[in-house]
Amino acid sequence: MKPSPRKIILRKQKTFYITTPIYYVNDVPHIGHAYTTIAADVLARYKRLRGYETFFLTGTDEHGQKVQQAAVKQGLDPQAHADRMVTAFKELWKRLTISNSDFVRTTEDRHKWIVQYVLRELKDRNLLYQAAYEGWYCLPDERFWAGNEVVDGKCPECGRPVEHISESNYFFKMSAYRDRLIQHIRKHPGFIQPESRRNEVLGFLDRPLEDLCISRPRARLSWGIPFPFDPDYVTYVWVDALVNYISVPGYGSDDRRFKKWWPADIHLVGKDILTTHAVYWSTLLMALGLDLPKTLFAHGWWTVNGEKMSKSLGNVVDPNAMAAEYGTDAFRYFLLREVPFGQDGDFSKQAMTGRYNSELANDLGNLFSRTLTMIEKYSGGAVPKPHPKAVKADDRRMAARAGKLYKSVGGEMDRFAFHRALLEIWTLVDSANRYVEQNAPWDLAKDPKKRPRLDTVLYHLAETIRILAIYLFPFMPTTAQRMITEIGSTAQLDHALKPWDYQWGKLKPARAVQKGRPLFPRMEAPATIPKQETVASATLSKEIRMESTQTEPSLITIDDFRKLELRVGRVVTAEKVAGADKLLKLSVDIGTETRQIVAGIAKKYIPEELIGKSVILIANLKPAVIRGIESRGMILAAGDKEVEALATFIEPVQPGLRVK
Ligand code: MSP
Repeated sequence: MKPSPRKIILRKQKTFYITTPIYYVNDVPHIGHAYTTIAADVLARYKRLRGYETFFLTGTDEHGQKVQQAAVKQGLDPQAHADRMVTAFKELWKRLTISNSDFVRTTEDRHKWIVQYVLRELKDRNLLYQAAYEGWYCLPDERFWAGNEVVDGKCPECGRPVEHISESNYFFKMSAYRDRLIQHIRKHPGFIQPESRRNEVLGFLDRPLEDLCISRPRARLSWGIPFPFDPDYVTYVWVDALVNYISVPGYGSDDRRFKKWWPADIHLVGKDILTTHAVYWSTLLMALGLDLPKTLFAHGWWTVNGEKMSKSLGNVVDPNAMAAEYGTDAFRYFLLREVPFGQDGDFSKQAMTGRYNSELANDLGNLFSRTLTMIEKYSGGAVPKPHPKAVKADDRRMAARAGKLYKSVGGEMDRFAFHRALLEIWTLVDSANRYVEQNAPWDLAKDPKKRPRLDTVLYHLAETIRILAIYLFPFMPTTAQRMITEIGSTAQLDHALKPWDYQWGKLKPARAVQKGRPLFPRMEAPATIPKQETVASATLSKEIRMESTQTEPSLITIDDFRKLELRVGRVVTAEKVAGADKLLKLSVDIGTETRQIVAGIAKKYIPEELIGKSVILIANLKPAVIRGIESRGMILAAGDKEVEALATFIEPVQPGLRVK
């Protein structure tokens, strides 16, 4: 008898909804933005791997004063400015292999409508009222200050006089939710993490909670979502931004989808924006009758070489430059390994290079490359079959250690203790390295009678690599997939695995290994603490360095600078120079002519990716012959010994335009 369709029970797939803050588009992304987004990506990948249907949301916060001011400074209308800036975020996420499911911009209709819907809901529920908003206003900065922030009647930021303003605004009755919020936090210990932050929020709620001013008069700030029932006002940027967490999964537009994803499992935020999330967002959700997110996790802040990161100090860490220098995976690894998630940390190239060389190049990279080399050398390039009779206690210990990781790594990941999860994984890396030394396959290979033992040892190493790759995948997706493929497995790690995939012995013998380039080539330690990436000439590689007189850095006059004829060039063709691994031959359109240039950038770029790119060319440089090819000019790039990034333009520009 056929079962009736009703009797078929569908096991609902477990879901996981994770968000990052949405980032202001007033400036390009820095290490702080990269940190939250990478951490979210690691969690999302981990959950997918463990069978959760995962929705991972990030995006940009595009309204409000900060963004409007940045646009004015650029002489652009705010939408055009946002359209331009958003690409810097999107491109960075691509480069950092971020696997977000959606990317929201608060200027999109799908979001704006829902913000207006939320405002109407609040009004219909009688939770809004109009009242005077008072404060000290700095006209040039267009910013309000509280009485105790003003210094001698002057703006604490720019020092100019402030004026007392009273203007009518809309308020949300936030104060009404104080007790409920305190209760919620007390009842759900995991709601705000880490615990120290939870206590901070509770401390904040000890004081009376004020109502929240959620509008700005349009006359003063036009760049925002208009109030649907009062055209004289736009929405306060924080209310606008927070709503992204529900507007995207379907609140007010797609009930089924919304029910599937809400409440979010976790909002990851930096410690500076915890109050807005824990208090503003929670009370707004209560007002709308919605569940609160299951967890708000506030991570710490990065300093750089012991100093606060700031534009004026010139020490803002550009994640693009770090990914270019160390590789995306090493950068991701470092950020999560260096500092316990939740605490503040310090970024330095010394620390980054130190971990890179010792943990990635040495521990992991060597284990991987020596395993593959030995399989190639002693086993004809195919993973050998282990011999049950040749298995020793040592092997069983390693299999057992690998088996324990499912729980131990999982436990740390579920507690957001990324550095501990990595430490757990490293217990297997370390034992595998010891195992190689103790079993010395090179000695076993000398005695044909020891073949069964040699095969068994090599299989154990290969299988360890496969298992390591699975656990490393959320952190270093490209490296992990390479490890899996090169060891001869066909597994794809960006999908859910089956529980048995984690079990020892699943690697099929006889598959050919494919040894590629080293996972993490060793790096030289930085000699000094570089404050800023310097702009160097891309053609200044050792191979083509022409006698340049190395002098002490000295100041030049504007007239010296004017001697340089810098022009916009567009790369028309690019090809490798035979026999020179650093050189590319380019033809570059500079408006009036096409120049042939030899540039030392072949290690960094494949020729195809340069075609169509705008570059900065020194057009009045004496021609030089490099490897028999005439080079008429130089292109600019950032980097010290090695080229890290080519200098280019934010906007599209015409070839030939003067750069000054
Ligand atoms: N637009 C708001 C968030 C709205 S979410 C509904 C915003 N944007 S932001 O671009 O200024 O900051 C985003 C994140 O960057 C914050 O989580 C902040 O903590 C983080 N960081 C900024 N500087 C940082 C460091 N130096 N170190 C680590 N994270 C830092 O706030």
